[in-house]
Amino acid sequence: MRILLLCHSFNSLSQRLFAELKARGHQLSVELDISDSVTEEACALFQPDVLIAPFLKRRIPESVWRSVVCLVVHPGPPGDRGPAALDWAVLEQASQWGVTVLQANADFDAGPVWAHASFDMRSASKGSLYRSEVTQAAVVAVLRAVQRLDVNDPLVTPTEGVEAGPGSVGSAWRPAMPQTARRIDWLSSSTADILARLRSADGQPGVQDALFGHPCHLFDAQPATGTALQALAGTAAGAVVAQRDGALLRRTVDGGVWIGQVRLARACGDESAFKLPATLAFAPEAATLPVWSVPLERENDEWAELRYWERGPAGARVGCLSFDFYNGAMSTEQCESLLAALQQVKQRDTQVLLLLGGRDFFSNGIHLNCIEAAAHRPDSSAADESWRNINAMNDVAQELIATTDRITVAVLRGNAGAGGVFLALAADEVWAHPGAVLNPHYRNMGNLYGSEYWTYLLPRRLGPERARELMRQRLPLLAVDAQRMGLLDRCLDTSPAGLERDVIPDALALALTYNLSDRILHKQQVRTADEATRPLADYRKEELSRMYRNFYGFDPSYHVARYHFVHKLPHAWTPRHLAVHRP
Ligand code: COA
Repeated sequence: MRILLLCHSFNSLSQRLFAELKARGHQLSVELDISDSVTEEACALFQPDVLIAPFLKRRIPESVWRSVVCLVVHPGPPGDRGPAALDWAVLEQASQWGVTVLQANADFDAGPVWAHASFDMRSASKGSLYRSEVTQAAVVAVLRAVQRLDVNDPLVTPTEGVEAGPGSVGSAWRPAMPQTARRIDWLSSSTADILARLRSADGQPGVQDALFGHPCHLFDAQPATGTALQALAGTAAGAVVAQRDGALLRRTVDGGVWIGQVRLARACGDESAFKLPATLAFAPEAATLPVWSVPLERENDEWAELRYWERGPAGARVGCLSFDFYNGAMSTEQCESLLAALQQVKQRDTQVLLLLGGRDFFSNGIHLNCIEAAAHRPDSSAADESWRNINAMNDVAQELIATTDRITVAVLRGNAGAGGVFLALAADEVWAHPGAVLNPHYRNMGNLYGSEYWTYLLPRRLGPERARELMRQRLPLLAVDAQRMGLLDRCLDTSPAGLERDVIPDALALALTYNLSDRILHKQQVRTADEATRPLADYRKEELSRMYRNFYGFDPSYHVARYHFVHKLPHAWTPRHLAVHRP
């Protein structure tokens, strides 16, 4: 089928559907929802059999839905309607939720239902659920709907197979969620209630609140547990009492909540109204707070960005290092912490080291928001911070490449983008959840050349020709397809949520391989030979000379693209590599 994806932005769900549909032989093109006339033009040019809207913020124009079947992906079960479906589900702590594919008509989310799928809710943020459970259910439902279209099967009728009431007009309209529904009263609300409010608004729009007397939006909440919870005794509800890994700890009536990210209210002339680590947004205030750090190896539930644990018997032991950086973005300081952790865990007698990245993202490369923030600091600049950040990323990649006394495995529980993909390739093996989406290229960020030793790591897996082609295409890649082409090694048949647990038996089996020591010896020989052919330092120097031009040169494309990305400016056109219908 010829399928046109119409989306507000080419987000993770749109990318996953794009890759899944393409893998099934459909012809895909993408148009971003820029204006009605652009959508009309895209339909006229592409002549789609069906238009699918995975992520829209406005209605599809009537001229379009009257002339072509338009399927809208609604992140709610049949019968649920409105623009904040998942927000309400998280706030009200629903135990089950779903995704419905319905046909666009004159009413909002009220057309005939073509397919739907359900899932169990997890105690997590809206964004995390969206990227994982919602995306998975959406894939199931969209594929079902497309199959029905393909064989011209009749629509699911209101009584057929839709338990919770079909997508019929007027069943359960719920409006956009106002900030009043999310408001937190720090002097009376319980921790669970506060977490539900914050999680219902994360990644966007955040909960309107104030810290240190400054209005701001809050994001990225974790409950205080373990040592932090004990240390909170005697502090007053509402007080901000400590910091850890960029987050601020705020006392509640029955515990505490770590707030990882804030967006300051945009004051007159204030350019820094975008999401930042809380201690960076409130740097002077945070400087007066104690740092409540925790050891790298600790109880499972005590929150911090980095955690290490081990499994298995001596001689066949597996080390697991997780680095759960918000949105997969890795600032200079986060890279430095990860490097220190890597150096620490390399002292341990393990045979296999798993790099687990984060729950939602393995990594998305350098931290563009922190870099943007540096542009507003008198002692720094966006170029300087970009330079520091890419060097810190490279140090981590180099440390991994130089780990030749054990087998390293990068485990992609979530998606990876740009430098984050190449960081994973620095490990000996890459394993992934089959639905993980990779964006193994840099050029979408203002023609960034990229570093992280990609010029060494990518050709060694794909050969020079295919490596160039992959970078040129700038398209998302499903983990299963990446495995097929040799970019990664294994897809584990499990859910993203189960991957952290389910990967252990495979890692233990690897650690127990009878010829592991031969394999490690071989790896050392390959590294020595590669180094003799061309030193790693040389790759780095060459890549960084190109990056230096991106950061400090006369072409401002990277700075412009980063500014647009961080400030979430609406797209003005659809990139040509997506809109293949445009000549
Ligand atoms: N720095 C800071 N924030 C980042 C980030 C980065 N490198 N990569 C992603 N994010 C943030 C997004 O701004 C978004 O923030 P929000 O929670 O405020 O909405 C969130 O992570 C999710 O990103 P989104 O783009 O919605 O996710 P996606 O899964 O749809 O797309 C990518 C994934 C990787 C394609 C896209 O995020 C991207 O292009 N990131 C930039 C990658 C990059 O160029 N890195 C620098 C070069 S190494």
